[in-house]
Amino acid sequence: MKQPELDVIIVSPELVPFSKVGGLADVIGALPDKIASKGCNTTIFTPLYKSIDRKKFNIKKEKLRNLNVSVAGEKRNVQIFSAKKPGTDINVYFIYNQEYYDRDGIYTLPETGEAFEDEEERTIFFNRAVIAAIKKLDIYPDVIHCNDFHSGLIAPLILLEESGDKHFKGTGIVFSIHNLAYQGNYDANFIIKAELDPGLLYPMSPFEYYGGVNIMKTGIIYSDLISTVSPTYAEEITLSNQYGHGMEGILRERRKDVIGILNGIDNDIWNPETDNLLDYNYSAQKLDGRIKNRTALLEEFNLPNNKKSPVIGIVSRLVDQKGFDILAEAMDEIMKLDIKLVILGTGQEKYHKQYNGIQKKYPSKLSLKYEYNNKLAHLIEAGSDFFLMPSRYEPCGLNQMYSLRYGSIPIVRATGGLKDTINNLSSNGGRGNGFVFEDYSAIALIKVIKRAVAFFKNGKAIATVRKRIMKEDHSWNKSAAEYVAMYKDAASRNRMKLTKQLRA
Ligand code: ADP
Ligand code: GLC
Repeated sequence: MKQPELDVIIVSPELVPFSKVGGLADVIGALPDKIASKGCNTTIFTPLYKSIDRKKFNIKKEKLRNLNVSVAGEKRNVQIFSAKKPGTDINVYFIYNQEYYDRDGIYTLPETGEAFEDEEERTIFFNRAVIAAIKKLDIYPDVIHCNDFHSGLIAPLILLEESGDKHFKGTGIVFSIHNLAYQGNYDANFIIKAELDPGLLYPMSPFEYYGGVNIMKTGIIYSDLISTVSPTYAEEITLSNQYGHGMEGILRERRKDVIGILNGIDNDIWNPETDNLLDYNYSAQKLDGRIKNRTALLEEFNLPNNKKSPVIGIVSRLVDQKGFDILAEAMDEIMKLDIKLVILGTGQEKYHKQYNGIQKKYPSKLSLKYEYNNKLAHLIEAGSDFFLMPSRYEPCGLNQMYSLRYGSIPIVRATGGLKDTINNLSSNGGRGNGFVFEDYSAIALIKVIKRAVAFFKNGKAIATVRKRIMKEDHSWNKSAAEYVAMYKDAASRNRMKLTKQLRA
């Protein structure tokens, strides 16, 4: 058998099918299979949350001697569980500690949506535990691929504390930014809790951020290569202060090491022909199941069915990123149009309240469900005529690609991955795959929705466009090859040189 070219460890706080808050889980649920098929021996590390069904996934405790890490001066027990990623031979190692993971919620308290009070300690624990587990399991990674700030401490910990350890001698580190807005910002005491040398925290040091510590920053500075999830987002976060969330200076310094690789989608999970979450499967050749899904969707959301008024769907976290402020501002004008709007999402309390108020004004046109519901998310893709993503910023976005595959025409703002995947339809629908607006404003949003609604009147063009977009290829094939190239580059970098520079 051909020897694997690279031993790759992927570290992620979310992973389909075990845990999911947003698109990161989908990405890490799909990418490993693809890179494994391209010659990478792949292992995944993720937390064992309470919600993960150990029985269903046959998750077993590893028989290892006592393993502990120290956080805030206290010994914390690390338990390692493992399972195969369903349908693959990929090992998933789950990190567990009762105090940190035996609770409801992944990042936040389910009742309030507020971050856990001990987020800081939990993060330190996870990063230290992953490193301890790699050593205990005797893995010699060529690459560790960290994702978002939750694993932003792995690179500095390895460089500062493990450079003499045999397991990490040849290890390159890649840090992927899925969302720059969530950074892991803590006060100066973090250095003490993480049991790092207090001398590391001085003005403008890799750890320091406005007097405290920022783990997004340490991840960016200490990793060999930084990737993000679309070429446009890579440009936006390095070139414009509007999108940099305070990291633009640091990212600019590392510009030549920042790579934008567009996310793909899992064509097996998101396939209208085989999707077992749908009552009616369909294909580009046979669209009648789509009409049945549309009827089911309107019933589910308690809205009257009228073939002539387009159904616009939204599945989203209800947070500032996703454009709910301009949508609320635009709503009175939008509701004058002959449309139905269905929204599925959970998030910030202020939007729950605000949209409840709007819904009361337009009960026969707007329907909301504040819940996390995977089946309904699939039904919205399969039953809506248009899928709306008016994001303020969008590192990649997966839903617009799911929509293409399910034949719901995307309406998006031109930012990040939305810009990289959706092109305006020409007036007769002969070219393009959606409706795109530029300005982040209610006015621009109203205009683009009016354009889509007018286009809907041309039933023939709509059907042709649907069929065409359903056949587009947004699979992981091309992007997975780019990840492998990046891993090879990271593995070959002279990491000690970087350490010396950082210490100087
Ligand atoms: P983000 O990661 O910023 O939330 P993405 O578009 O990359 O945005 O991915 C969002 C993922 O989360 C999609 O798979 C989407 O279907 C799913 N999702 C978001 N909100 C819900 C919800 N309320 N119920 C079910 N799935 C949801
Ligand atoms: C983040 C981003 C989203 C992206 C996802 C997966 O949650 O907000 O745009 O698609 O990560 O990379």
